[in-house]
Amino acid sequence: MVNSEVKGTVLLTQEQIWERAKEIGKQISEDFSGEELILIGTLKGAVVWMADMMKTITLDTQIDFISASSYGSGTVSSGNVKIKKDIELDIENKNVLIIEDIIDTGNTLKYLKEYFSKKNAKCVKICTLLDKPSRREADVQGDYVGFSIDDLFVIGYGLDFDQKYRNLPYISYLDSYEA
Ligand code: IMP
Ligand code: MG
Repeated sequence: MVNSEVKGTVLLTQEQIWERAKEIGKQISEDFSGEELILIGTLKGAVVWMADMMKTITLDTQIDFISASSYGSGTVSSGNVKIKKDIELDIENKNVLIIEDIIDTGNTLKYLKEYFSKKNAKCVKICTLLDKPSRREADVQGDYVGFSIDDLFVIGYGLDFDQKYRNLPYISYLDSYEA
């Protein structure tokens, strides 16, 4: 699916993503039935998926955001994670669900899971739109995974290439000459 109105090759449409969000939201609502849940979105990539997930979860929820980066210079992930913007809610003794755009090496999420555990969260689970399992370095996995994908660099639906394309209403991938 490549034409002049579409950037790159579409992997997932917003209809497909929304259908999957509803399935996962139902599952999460069942799994945490009768309990409160704090959704923590990772800036900036997860904002569009966060907006979907918060509409599909029927529990008593609060939302917050965190900005962390596992990247030094360039696009090669390192285990060196920095918190650039912290959460504002008190998560002590609360159920936390991290809403992430994509698990790649897993370095960021491994760090965030430990970071929230140290703040004495009752439990810390992960809900990710995308998973690239072939790239994993850290021992971490999504508890709720939208879609597992091959080792492609994807854009859209919040995900960027050099801060661009976050606004595309679908997930696509670029061939190197298109970037
Ligand atoms: P990691 O799991 O610590 O390697 O880092 C995951 C983060 O890297 C994600 O939250 C994204 O922000 C970014 N990332 C990884 N793969 C891609 C991709 O294919 N497209 C856009 N961003 C990506
Ligand atoms: Mg991210």
